[in-house]
Amino acid sequence: MARTLLSLFAVLLAVDGVFCFPSYASLAGLSARQLDEIIPQLTIRTLASPPGPLEDPSAKLVNDPAHPFIAPGPNDIRGPCPGLNTLANHGYLPRNGIASPSEIVSAAQEGFNMGNDIAVFVTYAAHLVDGNLLTDLLSIGGKTPETGPDPPAPAIVGGLDTHAVFEGDASTTRGDAFFGDNHSFNESLFDELTAFSNEFGAGSYNLSVAAEFRFQRIQDSIATNPNFSFISPRYYTAYAESVFPIAFFVDGRITDTLTLDMTVARGFFQDGHMPDNFFRSNISWGLTEIGGGIDIIFTPHPIEPGANAGALDSYTLDPNSADFTDFCKLYTDFVNITVRGLYPNATGALLGALNQNLDFFFGPLQSRGCTQVPAFV
Ligand code: HEM
Repeated sequence: MARTLLSLFAVLLAVDGVFCFPSYASLAGLSARQLDEIIPQLTIRTLASPPGPLEDPSAKLVNDPAHPFIAPGPNDIRGPCPGLNTLANHGYLPRNGIASPSEIVSAAQEGFNMGNDIAVFVTYAAHLVDGNLLTDLLSIGGKTPETGPDPPAPAIVGGLDTHAVFEGDASTTRGDAFFGDNHSFNESLFDELTAFSNEFGAGSYNLSVAAEFRFQRIQDSIATNPNFSFISPRYYTAYAESVFPIAFFVDGRITDTLTLDMTVARGFFQDGHMPDNFFRSNISWGLTEIGGGIDIIFTPHPIEPGANAGALDSYTLDPNSADFTDFCKLYTDFVNITVRGLYPNATGALLGALNQNLDFFFGPLQSRGCTQVPAFV
């Protein structure tokens, strides 16, 4: 996929003046010549630092009159994350689906009470690989509006739909990229999730259902997707995202048992729609709290990182991938392998923005005993 995009850029750039580079498209993976042509077209913005934690992290009405649901219009971008889609549909994020990472952190905190450490960590990880580091903009999906300049901008431009750098396989309600659509709500998967909720959760989604369904989605991808990949960072995000509905989609006034009604679940997963009178969580769910949920999901079915070897049912463990025993390796491998691999040609302003974003990304790990990877030169 990344290669397809690169060749698309290469073709477009070969024809002078035809292509106006979208301000939110990622510069990752571009050659020095492509960067030389594109960067002068961009309006470079001073990067805002990530916001701090909420001053008042208590539960509160978030589907309020200032944040009504409005379904996205034809040119509004939506993507694989039901949380961000919801934040955009309720105006916590710009409704066109293009935002700066600091806006995304603020919105995830304000709208869902996501903890500051995980909001910063996830957002800057995504921005480093899928966002534009010079304009400080990230698309929460991938499709460029077809109404671009004449001739129109290319139909697909990076963003969070980009496969394999952040978005990955075995999602709860989205299909694997191998099957052609990695970002749209998938009714068959939601039906399966509902069946699991009936079997293991008395009709609701909870951590027991999450444990069984996470395992099922992995087994399903092993059996049906020859390219199935389940290594870091996807390994971590897949488990974390199985906890997110319990952390963030359950009304904050429900504090005894964290169970998610399946009608409410459909509203979030399918439509990015908060229920009427929805209150955000009554606690900030940070790395520690989400990590606790991951433990509960992982323990009954401890799958180690790996990938299919190009054939169905060929899952092979990858001892080099970070796993739950070493959280700092998730960070160091992401920086040294994923990000470094995407920016072999960064110099000047791009190199500066890259290093500044890497600093922001490391911020939440300072207190967790990890050592910062030295700045790129
Ligand atoms: C509190 C805010 C958030 C909530 C409630 C949330 C919720 C979720 C959930 C439930 C999924 C799993 C979807 C599925 O498997 O069907 C998911 C996926 C995803 N989220 Fe979020 N998320 C939030 C914040 C973020 C942030 C801050 C980012 C990055 C900027 C992000 C990026 C993604 C991406 C790229 C996926 C797709 C993963 C994949 O399918 O491979 N999310 N999110």
